[in-house]
Formats: sequence, structure tokens, C-alpha cells
Amino acid sequence: MDITFDMFIETEVPEDEVIISRTDLKGVITYVNDTFAEISGYSADELIGQPHNILRHPDMPKAVFKDLWETIQKGENWSGYVKNMRKDRGYYWVFAEISGVYKNGELVEYKSIRSPIPKAKRIEMQQVYDDMRWADGEDIRMVTYLPFQTFEKLERIADEKKMPVEKLIDSLL
Ligand SMILES: Cc1cc2nc3c(=O)[nH]c(=O)nc-3n(C[C@H](O)[C@H](O)[C@H](O)COP(=O)(O)O)c2cc1C
Repeated sequence: MDITFDMFIETEVPEDEVIISRTDLKGVITYVNDTFAEISGYSADELIGQPHNILRHPDMPKAVFKDLWETIQKGENWSGYVKNMRKDRGYYWVFAEISGVYKNGELVEYKSIRSPIPKAKRIEMQQVYDDMRWADGEDIRMVTYLPFQTFEKLERIADEKKMPVEKLIDSLL
């Protein structure tokens, strides 16, 4: 089991700007516009050449991306709600529309255009995706409080053992 200590800071996606990326046929990023880079917290240079799952948020169910790839590989367009993780581990929600880019009738790349999602819908989709991950036996979200001293003690032991505190907790279970 992996335990990650996530940040829960949401970046609001602007209403009046387009957010675009393109990938090769394997999902490696080939282009991002400035707004895309800004919202993700990465520079364009850091993103280009990386697989698009660099933005993958652990709250996203596997089934969503399976459906995405099955759909676009059939040559159809896909749209859906995606929660992404920023470089600083904060998050942002987008409604993504993905389609093929054709040159002389041949599929050469994929492109994605994203738009903001109303707050109520984001809350609904968080629940839908939490339920999907639960039903599929995937990682679940757990929010908990530890006494500060307990966490300090764990950090100290992890430090002595030269292991990340997540791995230490894992080894105790
Ligand atoms: C054009 C395009 C845009 C994509 N945009 C995103 C995105 O914004 N966030 C994301 O997590 N995955 C995105 N994906 C899907 C990723 O390629 C990948 O399937 C997903 O992050 C899950 O990672 P995994 O396939 O390694 O499990 C996109 C794929 C394509 C083709």
C-alpha cells in the first residue's frame, strides 16, 4: 500500500481562456498552450516530451482512462470530467474533450480542449469517482488527524531507517 500526503488546494480554471494540449498516439505531450502550463504549475518545457499521466491525480479511477483510450483508439471523440494534479500537488478539475488530429486523412496526434466545471458538479464527480474506485478495489481516500507528537515520532524513526514516512507506516500495517 502506498500512502501519500496530498495537498488539497484547488486551482480555479478560468472561464474565458482555452486550455489545450496535444499528444502523440501514445499519449506523450507534444504541445501545451500557456494557460495549460500555468494551471498545471509546470512550464511548457517541463511538460513537452512527458507522458500525459504526469498530471494524473490518484483520485481518478482507472476505468475513466481505459474508456478514454478505448474511445479515441476507435477514432471516436471522448469527453469527460478529469481531476488533475499540479506540480505542487494541488489539484484542478476540467471537462476534457479529446479528439484525433488528422493529416491527409491519417490519424497523427490527439488533441484535448478543456473547460471549467461548475463547483457543484466537481463535488458530485468527486463522489462518483470515490465510489468507482471503492467498487473496483482501487486506492481509497482517507483523511485523518494524528497527534503532532506521534507524527514527529514517526518521522524520526523513518529518518533513522532512511525510509519515507509513508513506507514506515506501510511496514507497520
Ligand atoms: C490528448 C490527451 C489528453 C489527456 N489529458 C489528460 C489529463 O489532462 N490528465 C490525465 O490524467 N490524463 C490525461 N490523458 C490520459 C493519459 O494519457 C493517461 O491515460 C492517464 O493519465 C492515466 O494514466 P495511465 O494510463 O498511465 O494509467 C490524456 C490523453 C490524451 C490522449
